Amino acid sequence: MPDTIVSASILNADLSDLRSTARKAAAGGAEWLHFDVMDGEFVENITFGSSVLRAVRPYTDAFLDVHLMVMHPQRQIDLFADAGAENITFHIESDCDPAEVIGMIHKRGLKAGISVKPKTPASAIMPYLGMVDMALVMTVEPGYGGQGFITDTLPKIRELRRAAPELHIEVDGGINPDTSKLVREAGANVLVAGTFLFRADDMGEAVRRLR
Ligand code: DX5
Ligand code: ZN
Repeated sequence: MPDTIVSASILNADLSDLRSTARKAAAGGAEWLHFDVMDGEFVENITFGSSVLRAVRPYTDAFLDVHLMVMHPQRQIDLFADAGAENITFHIESDCDPAEVIGMIHKRGLKAGISVKPKTPASAIMPYLGMVDMALVMTVEPGYGGQGFITDTLPKIRELRRAAPELHIEVDGGINPDTSKLVREAGANVLVAGTFLFRADDMGEAVRRLR
């Protein structure tokens, strides 16, 4: 199982001051910065596109971890690659040919992730595990930060870890020190956290408590 990585989600951070948000995450020791991209179609919420990632890129050395909660991910790959993304994760539930999207991401030299919503079984992405660099198990319904952790997702994490011992398995939603323990024991190693980290007085301490 790969080492634990903390990916700070900016979704619930101070979006009015992304420069200091990015600096705060890096200072706290989060290795990755997680961008929750929503198009108002795949999920009802709309957040931000590649122009916001481009704006943040110069102010952080963090690994830019893009999570596309969009209906047509194939339309976003080049935009986010040009803007400086380093990983792009798309949803199996979106309207695309997964193998084609994975090929597009790798053609740009980026890492490719594939994601499942809480009600989607692990079997939906099993055929692609050998093609991707990461599997993202949503531990809340996609759309908003600050939701409660869905414990029914734990068996899915275990199933994916058994199938892919060396793959990055990322979890996203409701991650705090208590739920982090559960997901890491189940086999997840990349922890996306937004609310818990950006609400903390001491981000460094918060990151350490997640690990
Ligand atoms: C849901 C988002 C959130 C966000 C982190 O679509 O993907 O899960 O990243 O949420 P919290 O605030 O629960 O850490
Ligand atoms: Zn996310």
